[in-house]
Order: sequence, then structure tokens, then C-alpha cells
Amino acid sequence: MKLIDGKLISEQIKAEIKAEVAAMIDNGARAPHLAAVLVGDDPASQTYVASKEKNCQSVGITSTLYRLDKSITEKELENTINFLNNDPEIDGFIVQLPLPEQFDEQKIISMINPDKDVDGFHPVNVGKLVLGQDGFVSATPAGIMEMLKRSGIETVGKHCVVIGRSNIVGTPMSILMSRTTNPGNSTVTLCHSKTQNLKEIAASADILIAAIGKPRFVTADMVKEGAVVIDVGIHRLEDSSKQSGFRLVGDVDFDEVSKKASWITPVPGGVGLTTIAALLQNTLKAYKKASL
Ligand code: GUN
Repeated sequence: MKLIDGKLISEQIKAEIKAEVAAMIDNGARAPHLAAVLVGDDPASQTYVASKEKNCQSVGITSTLYRLDKSITEKELENTINFLNNDPEIDGFIVQLPLPEQFDEQKIISMINPDKDVDGFHPVNVGKLVLGQDGFVSATPAGIMEMLKRSGIETVGKHCVVIGRSNIVGTPMSILMSRTTNPGNSTVTLCHSKTQNLKEIAASADILIAAIGKPRFVTADMVKEGAVVIDVGIHRLEDSSKQSGFRLVGDVDFDEVSKKASWITPVPGGVGLTTIAALLQNTLKAYKKASL
């Protein structure tokens, strides 16, 4: 078994971005600028946004956080989005999800200028992904493609099984893997909560991507000997033996599955890190497009 080291791969990607940003600044350009909109005080969202800001800083990308109270109206959020859409100093921005329950998330996402939608969630960018056109690809699937590419994993003609059909991960992942790119050119099966024979289908995968949001859902009997296993999940489980009182686990039972897999991503230290690196790549791309 070989580990797909998210830390190593994300450090490589960030070093490339940092060098490119430094060269542009040396040539007199301003730094790229990413903004994040955080509505409310969801603890996980605060952690994610803080990590995005820290990572921006580490590569020379300017970041600004717009914090809004959880009780704001749709109109007030729309005003912030329009401000960011029209500010030439902002290259890209994200609206951190989940939003408080008074908001229709799809409606809010549709307000973002697609050219600044570095999350790749806007219908225009999802449409471009489906058609194989150049746009922004959602960061988690984009980061997984980097992991497969940089690990030299063969995907052409392989059976790729994606478990989970979310708009953010499972659906775009299934489309990317079926495209005529490398990585890509796989035969893809998208499994979800209504799938019959999920165990058998998963066990036939050459590449298994678990994005189902259930701790240790994928057990060793669901994995073929020699499969490549990508774990998108991240969950806190109580663990009194840890100083923090919890441990992080993924959607995959790592201890058992790693005995059968040829390659596997750890949790933590896997997909989470390449997701942030891919968001930085998208921000640099937005910046370069805007300065053309
Ligand atoms: N919430 C969980 N993941 C994401 C993400 O990739 N982008 C945004 N905006 N919100 C999220």
C-alpha cells in the first residue's frame, strides 16, 4: 500500500503558486485577492475559512473575510455579493456553505459572477464542466484530480466508482473522471443512497472515491484487492485516549481498507489539504483571466 500524501502534494501545488505569484509581483503586478463570505458562526465553517486565509497568506494571495450576522436578510447578502462581483480588486470569492436556513443556497450561488466563482458552484461553471469547457472546477474534485495525476495513477479504461452524488463533490467528480482527459477516461459508476448492490459495485472498482458523509462507511469487504481508494470524508469521533477527546476519521475504514488498497488517502492529511490547494489554483486562474 502507498499513501497518497495530501500534505506533500498540496505543498508542491502551493510552492508552484507561490513562485508564480512572486514572479508577477516582481513584474509590478498586484497580488491576487480572494474574499470569503461567512454568514453566522458555524464552528466548522469558521475553521475552514481561517485555514483558507492562512493558506492564502502562505502563497502571497491577499485574503479578506466578510463576516455577516446569521440574521441578515437575503437582500443584505445579495448586496455583499454584488459589491464583490463589481470590485475590480477582488479576483474571486466564495460564500461559505452551509448558509443559515433562511437562505436558498442555489439562489445565492447563482448571484455570484461566474468569472469570480472560484468554488465552481455557479450553474455556468457546472455546465462548462459537463461540456468539457474551461471554467472553474469545484476544489475538492479538482484537488483529487491533482492527487491522481501527481501520483502517476493510471485511470484510462478503469472502473471508477464514486459513492455520493453531492453537487460539491460526487457529481462533479463523476463527470471529471469520465471526460477525455488524463486523469479521466474512466468508466464511471455513481452510487448513492438508493443504489442497490452498493457493496458489490464498490468491490468492482479499480478506483473508489468515497464522498458519502458517513464515518468509516467503506469497509474492507467493499474494496477490491489493489484498488485505489480516495477518502473525501472527515468526521470527529469521540476518543478518550486522545488529549483532544476526539479523533478524525474519514468515510473509509482506513486501518482495514489500507491492507487491500494499492493507493489510499489518509484522513487527516489527504483530500482536505489538496482541496485548499485547488482553491488557491482557482484564485490564481481568476486573477490571470481578469488581468488579460
Ligand atoms: N462548505 C464545505 N465545503 C465547502 C466548499 O468547498 N466551499 C464553500 N463555499 N463552502 C463549503
